[in-house]
Amino acid sequence: PLIYILNGPNLNLLGKRQPQIYGHETLEDVARDCAALAADLGVETRFLQSNAEGQIIDWIHQAREDGAGIVINPAAYTHTSVAILDALNAFDGPVIEIHISNVHKREAFRHHSYVSLRADGVIAGCGTEGYRLALRRVATLIAQD
Ligand code: DQA
Repeated sequence: PLIYILNGPNLNLLGKRQPQIYGHETLEDVARDCAALAADLGVETRFLQSNAEGQIIDWIHQAREDGAGIVINPAAYTHTSVAILDALNAFDGPVIEIHISNVHKREAFRHHSYVSLRADGVIAGCGTEGYRLALRRVATLIAQD
């Protein structure tokens, strides 16, 4: 089984950007922890980040062709992107949405997610551990299929 772990805009700055909200771990740290867990779970992962909406959409299309699962932190596109929602709606496999921060505890504009209209599950406010929780869940959903 193959699982795409997709990261949206500004997450390349993780660990340096607003650490009081997002913590001190970098995206490379998260990628390393996910790779270790993936080995334990016996799944293959592609850990990707882009600041460009179109690139994220292209990766969702690729995941569709690969018959993969998806973990996605769409970052700010969560709250704005009908195009990412449409790409996910064209995708048949399991999707778990993850946010490092508890978006529901923050500004009102972060309370709505387009991606949640399609996601099978949502994890928010568990810090970077949320990626591992999401990865486990997608692996479970693939195994159930
Ligand atoms: C985020 C929450 C979003 O509201 C924000 O725009 C991000 C990161 C999170 O992981 O907590 O960039 O998705």
